[in-house]
Amino acid sequence: MNYINTMDDLFHMLDRYAEGVDWDAFYLKRDKPAPFLKYNKLPDKCVVDFIREHNIKNACEFGCGEGRNAIYLAQNDVDTEAYDLSEIAIENAKRNAAESKAEKAVFKAENLFALDFMDRKFDLVIDSGVFHHLTPHRRLQYREIVSGILAENGYFIL
Ligand SMILES: C[S@@+](CC[C@H](N)C(=O)[O-])C[C@H]1O[C@@H](n2cnc3c(N)ncnc32)[C@H](O)[C@@H]1O
Repeated sequence: MNYINTMDDLFHMLDRYAEGVDWDAFYLKRDKPAPFLKYNKLPDKCVVDFIREHNIKNACEFGCGEGRNAIYLAQNDVDTEAYDLSEIAIENAKRNAAESKAEKAVFKAENLFALDFMDRKFDLVIDSGVFHHLTPHRRLQYREIVSGILAENGYFIL
């Protein structure tokens, strides 16, 4: 039996009702026509334009997939932490980063809702294609996580 004593218990219970994408299977099978899978080494144009115009020292990416944006940031001298739920995506991201000599990118397979950043802050937080996959009951919490880790005058790219 599951007891609901806290908001966290309630959120975990609601998570189980939500039929999400099986991201490990998605990255293993590679049979969906998703542009970010086909062009998994190309960063988003908005990220490229943004980095050209701003002086960013460190960044955090949520749902980084196979690392295309985080690797681009690292190649442009930005210390970058990148997280994804999928262990397969993170393995691929680490391999892509090693091939591109993007040492400033650190990849971890983690659920973003389980992360503890202590008091660390970032000049830039990136979400490329994650928010719309989050279930409604998690979205306010997501906003709090993002605003909690943004440095003063930091940027959020969604
Ligand atoms: C549409 S894909 C985009 C991948 C990548 N941002 C890109 O554009 O190449 C969404 C990604 O978000 C990840 N994701 C979804 N929910 C997550 C969560 N709660 N914590 C961490 N990653 C998550 C999935 O594993 C998936 O890789």
